[in-house]
Amino acid sequence: MDKEEFLSEDILTGKIYDRTVIKKLLSYVLRYKASGLLSIFMVLITTVLFLLGPYLFGYAIDHGINKGDKALIYRTALAILGIETLRLILVVVQSYNIQAIGQKVMLDVRMELFSHVQSLPVSFFDKNPVGRVVTRLTNDIAAIGELFSAGVIVVIGDIFIIIGIFVAMVMLNWKLAIITISVFPIIVVIALWFGKHMKNSFREIRRKLARINAYLNENITGMKVIQLFNREKKNYSKFDEINDDYLKEQVKYIRYFAVFQPAINLVSALAIGLVLWYGAVRYMHGFLTLGVLVAFLAYIHDLFDPIRDIVEKYNIFQGAMASSERVFGLMKEPSEVDYIIPNPGKELSRRDFKGEIEFQNIWFAYNGSDYVLRDISFHIGPGQSVALVGVTGSGKTSIASVLTRLYEIQKGAILLDQIDIRKIEKVGLRYVVGLVSQDVFLFSGTLRDNITLFNPLSDSKILGTIESLGLMPFIDRMPKGLDMEVAERGANLSVGERQFISLSRIILYDPQVIILDEATSSMDPISEVLIQHAIQKVTQGRTSIFIAHRLSTILHCDKIIVLSKGEKVEEGSHEELLRLGGLYSQLYKVYMKEELIGHA
Ligand SMILES: Nc1ncnc2c1ncn2[C@@H]1O[C@H](COP(=O)(O)OP(=O)(O)O)[C@@H](O)[C@H]1O
Ligand SMILES: [Mg+2]
Repeated sequence: MDKEEFLSEDILTGKIYDRTVIKKLLSYVLRYKASGLLSIFMVLITTVLFLLGPYLFGYAIDHGINKGDKALIYRTALAILGIETLRLILVVVQSYNIQAIGQKVMLDVRMELFSHVQSLPVSFFDKNPVGRVVTRLTNDIAAIGELFSAGVIVVIGDIFIIIGIFVAMVMLNWKLAIITISVFPIIVVIALWFGKHMKNSFREIRRKLARINAYLNENITGMKVIQLFNREKKNYSKFDEINDDYLKEQVKYIRYFAVFQPAINLVSALAIGLVLWYGAVRYMHGFLTLGVLVAFLAYIHDLFDPIRDIVEKYNIFQGAMASSERVFGLMKEPSEVDYIIPNPGKELSRRDFKGEIEFQNIWFAYNGSDYVLRDISFHIGPGQSVALVGVTGSGKTSIASVLTRLYEIQKGAILLDQIDIRKIEKVGLRYVVGLVSQDVFLFSGTLRDNITLFNPLSDSKILGTIESLGLMPFIDRMPKGLDMEVAERGANLSVGERQFISLSRIILYDPQVIILDEATSSMDPISEVLIQHAIQKVTQGRTSIFIAHRLSTILHCDKIIVLSKGEKVEEGSHEELLRLGGLYSQLYKVYMKEELIGHA
């Protein structure tokens, strides 16, 4: 996929105010209504307490100092101390409370998203890189969390403070208030200019960071190839370039930031100067008390911090909104369709299935109308074994995929015991039809975990089954038996050992129908003999579909279906097909040669 496209997808495009996103976010917050209301209430209280400070200064000056009332000065000083202490306690509780809400919301969103991701069809994962989905679940949700930690509530508090200070100013002296307000156009211009530049720079930073992540991801996953082909130096310098790019953008951002704060302070000084000048004149003429002037100056001092705070947090909010939009976007991805039969009377238990399979004129494409299966029909009786034969890309794996409904067919119908599989719940279908996939996926955990897929099965049950199929040699050669630690993606296991695990999974899962997709390909001869033998035992009496290029597996099948370019070209027993002298007999000759060479 186009890398730039992948990266640009992560650029912030969100609006700061998007009704549907906010509504959805609120729906999560509302689950914690009580804590939320408490937060808002506490913000209101702390704002009021905060505003009381300057007022009390003025009061102490006018009524205490000027009138020589010592007791009043003491009392005011104590009151200021008490109020500030109370305010700080509330701030602590408030900050704890809001962050806790934030964490809970993050947990909820993450769980819901994970559950949704689990419900997405396999085709979704074909089209979306793992990294992107992981980013939604981690970084994007963390960005939503920042809404809370960096403080929606703090910003709401900031707004309250600004409004409160204005009200207090107007009440104290409206003329001085007008003088203060006169510097606001300058503030607006500065805020808009810096806001715009910081926003762009912030976006670039995010984009460049995404690039670093993507590059690292690819490099670390592909380290083996990089080292084998001596790409280290080249990749190092490429990384240097990307990294440097990021650094430059960061420095740019820091520069804006560094200038922005003093710029606001300068305007604040201007306002203080103006008020001091005009206020002092008014004071000297006796129109104003000293206390009011001092209180006013203190309010101006407090007025600019919240303004700066809001501008600085704008980016965080925008980032959070963009992340929310992406997270909710992923939540809207349609889940796998599962039409369930209007129940035909009796509950189907998996034991009720005999394992008869019929493909009726199946057409299937992964994308649009690029059909990889074309008008395929065949019938497999209960307990029969069938081999699918054809060159790579002829559609064998695709048949397994549509039969297990990892993908949905476009035309035709697949019947299991005469029931259209679209009418069988997927969970049920997958109990009946088991697939040993071509690529074995292993999880980090013990061998036991990988065989049981973390189901609680007793060791005696596991070992008993493995023993009965003659597969004990695989366990015996593992250093700690079932307790052996399997590395991420099974890096510490051979191909044969992985196939052994994959086969053991299905045996313990015990389905009526087994599909084995190239279960013995590229295996050493000893492992192959063991696995082959076990497969024969397991498939006895079950409907089984072998996708194999080993002759030995094909020979004893009841029927062979030959595919070419998504079409069924031949069907019959080994002898019949050989007599036919078509594609199968050609493939057979090639196989024969391969077998001769392979076992020479
Ligand atoms: N997930 C997928 N998305 C798109 N095309 C696919 C996918 N898997 C397989 N194909 C294509 O479908 C065709 C049949 O593939 P497949 O069924 O895997 O063949 P086989 O198992 O016989 O080698 C091939 O052309 C392959 O490129
Ligand atoms: Mg295949």
